[in-house]
Amino acid sequence: MDTTGRLAPGSRLEIPIRAPHFDFSDVPHHWLAGNAVATHVFNGMNLVFPDGERFFIQAVREHLPQLEDEALVRQVRGFFGQEGRHAYEHERYFEALEAQGYDLEGFLRRFRGFMKTSERWLPASVRLSMTAGAEHYTATFGSLALEYAPLEKAHPSLRRLIAWHATEEIEHKAVAFDVLQATHPSYALRLLGFGLATVSLFGWTIAGTRMLLRQDRAAGRTTRAEVRRMRRALRRAGDLDVRRLLTRVADYLRRDFHPNDLDDLELAHAKLRELGLEAV
Ligand SMILES: [Fe+2]
Ligand SMILES: [Fe+2]
Repeated sequence: MDTTGRLAPGSRLEIPIRAPHFDFSDVPHHWLAGNAVATHVFNGMNLVFPDGERFFIQAVREHLPQLEDEALVRQVRGFFGQEGRHAYEHERYFEALEAQGYDLEGFLRRFRGFMKTSERWLPASVRLSMTAGAEHYTATFGSLALEYAPLEKAHPSLRRLIAWHATEEIEHKAVAFDVLQATHPSYALRLLGFGLATVSLFGWTIAGTRMLLRQDRAAGRTTRAEVRRMRRALRRAGDLDVRRLLTRVADYLRRDFHPNDLDDLELAHAKLRELGLEAV
């Protein structure tokens, strides 16, 4: 770290693997401040995490033999461990959603088909670049989520799950990017992967959110008018800093960008300490 508190590009932080436990047995349908729309945006993202994370692990793994920097290889192993744990815990949360009565099968079948097809047809370099781009989003969402006020009113298990995942995304945010720089340092490839990651991540998260809201309406848990009102309430509250999200997206387009340009690790570790998750 330099005197500004900024992590130097290429600094090789240790990436710890934690194994916290989450009890999802009493999570209510609308666990995020009683707002169905906000809840299902997080749920929709949750549905794409496990298969997305396995795709990331595979893309990075295929480049492991080309890496010469041993400290980066150690970070890659930490990245595998963290993403593997995330996939496991988020998949456990699928079971909680199913126990609440949501039918996820059709959505998951289509999404998994898409991921398998991408894995089969896209070259490893493009998949690695997509991973680096998607990791920029997960680290960005992570730091925004840690400061998202309504999460303070979320069900405690989901609050802990999100804080843990957000922190680890911030801890390993430079790993896929550094592997991409070490093996395919092309700016055009970086932009291509970012574009593909943007379309896939937002497209599937929005599809998952809409599918869950549709099921809520069909089961009488909410109405179309209530969904409209909740959407307006979210926009008015202004808790989610859209301008910061867009600034971060634009950052990635800079030719000299590096994920460690922004150091939000202290924010993340403070949240982990607050929730008693720093050493689990
Ligand atoms: Fe993750
Ligand atoms: Fe990640």
